[in-house]
Amino acid sequence: MRNQVEWPSEFPQFLWGTATASHQVEGGNRNDWTLWEDAGRIKRQEKSGQASGHWERAESDFSLFAELGVNAYRFSVEWSRVEPRQGEFDVEALSKYRQMVQQMRDHGMEPCLTLHHFTLPQWFAMDGGFLQPDGPRMFLRYVRRVVETMGSLVRLYVTINEPMVYAVNSYLYGVWPPGQHNLARTLRVSNQLIAAHKGAYHLIKTVQPGALVGLAHHINLFEPWSTSPADVVLARTLHHLFNRRVILAVGDLQDYLGINYYTRSFATIRHPFTPQSSRGENGSRAELGLTDMGWDIYPEGLEQALLEARAFNRPILITENGISTPDDALRIRYLDAHLDAMHRAIEKGVNVRGYFYWSALDNFEWDEGFAPRFGLIEVNYDTMERVMRKSAYHYRDRILQSAARGMK
Ligand code: FCB
Repeated sequence: MRNQVEWPSEFPQFLWGTATASHQVEGGNRNDWTLWEDAGRIKRQEKSGQASGHWERAESDFSLFAELGVNAYRFSVEWSRVEPRQGEFDVEALSKYRQMVQQMRDHGMEPCLTLHHFTLPQWFAMDGGFLQPDGPRMFLRYVRRVVETMGSLVRLYVTINEPMVYAVNSYLYGVWPPGQHNLARTLRVSNQLIAAHKGAYHLIKTVQPGALVGLAHHINLFEPWSTSPADVVLARTLHHLFNRRVILAVGDLQDYLGINYYTRSFATIRHPFTPQSSRGENGSRAELGLTDMGWDIYPEGLEQALLEARAFNRPILITENGISTPDDALRIRYLDAHLDAMHRAIEKGVNVRGYFYWSALDNFEWDEGFAPRFGLIEVNYDTMERVMRKSAYHYRDRILQSAARGMK
């Protein structure tokens, strides 16, 4: 990745946004996850069901998001809605997504469209998902339909969200469908996702040459649990395998580097494949404590990740960053600390061009179900009523302050 890529002048100079993903907010989906939920594989046997009811409320949600003062919004298209049966495309679903994109634009938000955010159509999953040799090619047929439908309305694409998180949760830890525990398949599926991305990159550039295409890479900073050489080497190895390998394999075929950053983990040779999310009260610096997912709050890690990412010579978008907590004051502290970390990196010369808070709305957090609350906007799941949290207004103020300094 020697070629330096610049941020195009026709885009907003800084994208201030929030993010969601189809299965987590839409409701009424039928995909590999709904089968998994029906099989009782989610904590407390929860099912995504109506999720945050966003499919029915998309337009009013967009006006709420716009009140945050954002100029961008990251969402995903649900493959299982668009191609419910192999080779059969649902024209209504496609035109509804196009309408949604138009509504985002009408509300002053640049759409950032994710093509794969963990879920698969059932027909695709049943035949082996991305592991089937033809998997990437089947994905491209769907990608073509979406990109042609969107035309020039969408000029920012995330092909695949967090390939390594998908690979390990689905094929190594077995906590996501298809629930496997197989290291070889974990690597193979990640290679298939890389192939799918590369194909999608060329395809999107052919249909929409001006579009920016990349992936959202989950960056988890691995620190050695102890000073023992085994832990130190393990931390470095995990860092390469989990954080860097996909970026390097995709190489120049990414116009920006998407980074999802939440936390760090501690690598210990005692459990080489399951880094620990914290060292407990004593071992963690834990100045800001842990989130209610048990994740260590470590804003310095965002600065570190950004400084390291500079070497890839691409503009950087923070495609996700956020916290699940019932304590909104802690959300504000988390947000402040991470935005400050981002600004420090920018001052040091890192070319950061966007920040998307995860998430706009409370939503269905995969195997954790509905308990985690990541939203700037609270959702009452009984009534589907939305309430802006204080952190939402705080984010808006931070955006306004930065915009006043020209960051917009
Ligand atoms: C990321 C996922 C996103 C959400 C957040 C909390 O890994 O991309 O869907 O679950 O974590």
